[in-house]
Amino acid sequence: MSKDKEKRRIDQLRKLLQHYNHQYYNLSISEVSDFEYDNLLKELIDLELKNPDYSDSSSASVSVGGDSNVEFEKEAHSFPMLSLDNTYSKEELFDFESRNKKLLPEDYQYICELKYDGASISLKYENGILIRALTRGDGTTGDNVTANVKTIKSIPLKLKGTDYPDNFEIRGEIFIPHEGFNEMNRIREENGEPEFANPRNTASGSLKTLNTSIVASRPLDCFLYYIISKNLPSNSHYENMQLAREWGFNVPSIIQKCKDINEVIKFIEYWDIERLNLPYDIDGIVIKIDNLKQQQKLGMTAKSPRWATSFKFKADQVKTKLLSIDYQVGRTGAITPVANLEPVLLAGTTVKRASLHNSDQINLFDIRVNDFVYVEKGGEIIPKIVGVDKDLRTEDSKAVEYIKSCPECGTELVRDEGEAKHYCPNDTGCPPQIKGRIEHFISRKAMNIGAAEATVEALVDKGLIHDIGDLYFLTKEDLLSLERFAEKSASNLIESIEKSKEVPFHKVLFALGIRYVGETVAKTIASELKTIENIKNASLEELIEINEIGERIAASIIDYFKSEIHLKIIDKLKISGVQFEINVDNEQESENKLNNQTFVISGTFEKHSRDELKELIVKYGGKNTGSISAKTNYLLAGENIGPSKLEKVRKLNIPIISEDEFLKMIE
Ligand code: IVH
Repeated sequence: MSKDKEKRRIDQLRKLLQHYNHQYYNLSISEVSDFEYDNLLKELIDLELKNPDYSDSSSASVSVGGDSNVEFEKEAHSFPMLSLDNTYSKEELFDFESRNKKLLPEDYQYICELKYDGASISLKYENGILIRALTRGDGTTGDNVTANVKTIKSIPLKLKGTDYPDNFEIRGEIFIPHEGFNEMNRIREENGEPEFANPRNTASGSLKTLNTSIVASRPLDCFLYYIISKNLPSNSHYENMQLAREWGFNVPSIIQKCKDINEVIKFIEYWDIERLNLPYDIDGIVIKIDNLKQQQKLGMTAKSPRWATSFKFKADQVKTKLLSIDYQVGRTGAITPVANLEPVLLAGTTVKRASLHNSDQINLFDIRVNDFVYVEKGGEIIPKIVGVDKDLRTEDSKAVEYIKSCPECGTELVRDEGEAKHYCPNDTGCPPQIKGRIEHFISRKAMNIGAAEATVEALVDKGLIHDIGDLYFLTKEDLLSLERFAEKSASNLIESIEKSKEVPFHKVLFALGIRYVGETVAKTIASELKTIENIKNASLEELIEINEIGERIAASIIDYFKSEIHLKIIDKLKISGVQFEINVDNEQESENKLNNQTFVISGTFEKHSRDELKELIVKYGGKNTGSISAKTNYLLAGENIGPSKLEKVRKLNIPIISEDEFLKMIE
């Protein structure tokens, strides 16, 4: 690149980054992913280094950005609020290490912390009383949001004990935990209000809301990670933070001392995976030199300290073009719109498709074909679309016309009241529903029949089976007529089908694939009503009387048995010898050993897989849930259990049991 071209590019990058900063800090909008932003910033820094004569103190490479809002009073920070250097590459961490080694001939220690993804805040305490809370602003001055911050329960207004410095600032991140965020969105959805896109933008938006009572209603929380004062009690960052916890601050317990960068990398690698199990968002790891004297020695650049750096996990949100929409028909006939996207790199993988959930979601975001959409990868496998960049909308954008009939069988779709999804009602004639039902029926947790998806597909396509009942009338010859089936594989499958006749009734009930009747519900109904005849003849009222069976489930069961086709299938299964009543001998005694207690499973186990443990819990009358709450009775803990889970159970005083202890309970 010629010098002129380089300078033009510098101008362009400065403008672009300034625009993104304004959008991010003032309007809480992320137009680009962090990854893209950081790449642009890196490019700018490199070019500026090559062109020192073209420096500018207001360049995005020097100033921190800005989150100032006109309506709030601006105040100067007592100490500038710097940002952190960041990297996505482990090589650069070794560079960080070499620089430290060069500048610090003596021993030093790193402290690793999670990089919380929210809005940063600086709290000022005088004589143990919170007197001011400032947003980062441009790093020198910030917005005074004290009234809003005072509504956050985990921020102490008055400190405990007496051994805190008279005067200090403590900094941290205001964020919204997933549970609160989802609940807030659920309520908004119920009230017909637009849902929030993600916890980070909602946290920073909330902080800058002028109505304090609205702020108070938001589930904001705050982690503190950095304390500054002229008279701190210890020379170690780690020690000071532990003391701050005793004064009443919410100091994260996930913090680790590391002796070298290899230990740091282990911490990073662990959390790169485990972060998906955290109850809040993090976007990386922060690495700090522990000793404050050494921190001083290393000093800082205009923008960030040299004694700390951050490793950022790959971007979680990107923007790309929506090319078209496909409609998938699920096992139960539920229609899911799926977006075809211009391929884009997201969190290390190329994304071409993303779920759009349902027609409401499309309308809510006003998503149109050819729009640029934000795609996010959460805990789910399929990424989802979380918003639209309307500024980039062009004339060729086309409003979505949601389909009216099933793309597989042409039947007119229905949408039940209160349901978000459209359904194809042709459950016995729609090919994906037929195949899906059979796949569900034979699955391990249901009848446990060993046939591959491709086998089911071939059997249906060849017309050898039309429903789950037909499986029991298959002959070896039928199977041998399929491609890739030999004598051995054919007899294995026949044997497996034969064996499924011993599968207990509650699993058969689950295997039928009645809408809303999952494993636990099937188990409850089977043990309550004992036989398929009783279930078939039960009234809505009788079903609702059963513990944990609501109207929705009851109505679905009644509906299922109204269908002549379903009754014929059940007859076929009955004739074949499938279990349609509970075996009192086997089941009753084991039934209630766990006495309805709730378990959460975490970690890896020696003797059983997690799925097997879940099955055992249900089999012995317990309940299995995914997340820890006050209702949890036990945490069944294996190896490598996430510290966040441990922290939560300790807080709630929930007993932790090992695999062996659990097996004893059901012995
Ligand atoms: S320390 C001088 N520790 O990341 C450095 N920052 O880009 C003081 N952040 O502005 C910050 N988690 O908003 C620190 N454990 C952590 C953090 C953290 C998140 C944020 C913070 C800061 C930004 C740096």
